[in-house]
Amino acid sequence: MKIFWTDDLSVGFKAIDDQHKTLINIINKFANALLEGEGAESIESVVNFLDLYTKVHFATEEKYMDAFNYPDIAIHKSEHKKLIDYIDELQSKVYTNINNHKLALDLCNELKDWYVNHIGKIDKTLGSFLKIKKAERNEIIEKKMKGSL
Ligand SMILES: [Fe+2]
Repeated sequence: MKIFWTDDLSVGFKAIDDQHKTLINIINKFANALLEGEGAESIESVVNFLDLYTKVHFATEEKYMDAFNYPDIAIHKSEHKKLIDYIDELQSKVYTNINNHKLALDLCNELKDWYVNHIGKIDKTLGSFLKIKKAERNEIIEKKMKGSL
């Protein structure tokens, strides 16, 4: 039911891994709130935070993609857009069926699967790309420092 962070989920780029860890925590909090039968207020607040943090996180990834001219930017952005739409839908379904924890838990599980899949595939490709770009940039800086450029 819970997702645990393991190295398998690492994309090899710390700033993105850290945000993914936070996202996983939020999803786990959402599942816990439902399983523990918490009230409407706490369920709504965790879903709001999930919506907000997802947008912050995608904006971070997209900022890196823009900065390094990532070739797969269009595909990656469209995947993000799909999830933002999905979460908007999840939010309204949860709010209008606030006592239906079974429905919310199904949606939460779908979301979890989406994330694990997204991180495991296209975020890993992005992470490897950023790692190379970062190493190249560090090499240029080092050469400049040594005066060989
Ligand atoms: Fe992503």
